[in-house]
Parts: sequence; structure tokens; C-alpha cells
Amino acid sequence: MAEPLTMIAPTAAAMQEIGERLGRALVAGDVIALSGPLGAGKTTFVQGLARGTGVPAGRHVASPTFALVNEHPGRVPLVHADLYRIADPRELDELGLSDAFDRAAVAIEWLDRFPDAAPPERLEIAIAIADDGGRRLTLRPRGERAATLVAALRDQIG
Ligand SMILES: Nc1ncnc2c1ncn2[C@@H]1O[C@H](COP(=O)(O)OP(=O)(O)OP(=O)(O)O)[C@@H](O)[C@H]1O
Ligand SMILES: [Mg+2]
Repeated sequence: MAEPLTMIAPTAAAMQEIGERLGRALVAGDVIALSGPLGAGKTTFVQGLARGTGVPAGRHVASPTFALVNEHPGRVPLVHADLYRIADPRELDELGLSDAFDRAAVAIEWLDRFPDAAPPERLEIAIAIADDGGRRLTLRPRGERAATLVAALRDQIG
């Protein structure tokens, strides 16, 4: 297993920039799992992913907390899901995620609540709120493809 990569995002803009860099590398089938407390910056990170996957700049990438799944068009479609409000695993089928994994890059907030809702090969990003109000991101690649994505980010900051 490749080493986790830790990154610091002192501001929301920095968070989006890291997301954008990762987003540029995403292809259909990639899965990004975002965990961290309420307000950690998961949706903010996905806004960056959207820029990187080529979602038009004017498009609002909102929290899918109520819609549960949003899809954004781009170089590759970006499907953005939020499992926070899922109470019962049986509700997961209604999200239509299984079809998204074949044709889109998929970013899922709170996947840690239902880890089996996505393929095991994925990039897990845990966001922690630091004492100074910034955020610390720990990127844990699960599988070869995710390790490649992390290596690309590591090279960019190296
Ligand atoms: N790196 C950062 N440093 C400081 N503030 C940040 C950072 N990233 C995001 N924020 C701010 O934190 C707030 C919450 O962000 P966001 O909605 O993205 O969190 P979330 O993890 O998606 O929350 P939820 O669990 O409710 O879905 C926003 O005001 C956002 O601008
Ligand atoms: Mg959110």
C-alpha cells in the first residue's frame, strides 16, 4: 500500500486548488471518498475537483446534502454524492451510483458511513480541522490507480 500523503490547506481557496489539481487527473471510474466532521471542507474540495474536471466555471457546485446526488458535465462527468442523510443502506440503491462508477468520476462525502457503497479501489481523503482553522488533508490511496493519483499530486508539490 502506498504511503498516505498529508497536505495542509490554510484557506478554502487552497482547498479548492488542491481539488482542482486532482480533478485534472480524474477519468471515468475514479472514486474519491471524502470524510471529516461537519463543515470540514468536503464540498469545498469537490468544487475544486469540478474546476479540474472541466465543469464550466459559472456552474454552482452545491452541497448535495438534500439532493444526495448531483451530476456536473465536463471533460469527464463528475458525480457528487453525499451520504450524510442516508439512514438505511437500502436507500443507497436509489442513488444510482452503481451506474455512475462506469461512466463518471465520482466524489462521495461521508462514504465512511457506508463504505460498501463504492468500489474498494478508491482515493480516501480525510479532512481534519486544525487549531488555527486551516485544514489538514490525509490522502490514502486504496489500489494502484489511486496510488497513481496521489503520486501525481506528490510530484506537483515535491
Ligand atoms: N481549508 C480551509 N480552511 C478554512 N476554511 C475552509 C477550508 N475549506 C473549507 N472551508 C470552509 O469551511 C466551511 C464548510 O465547508 P464545506 O461546506 O465544504 O464542508 P463540508 O465538509 O462539505 O460540510 P458537510 O459535512 O456539512 O457536508 C465553508 O465555509 C468553507 O469555506
Ligand atoms: Mg458537504
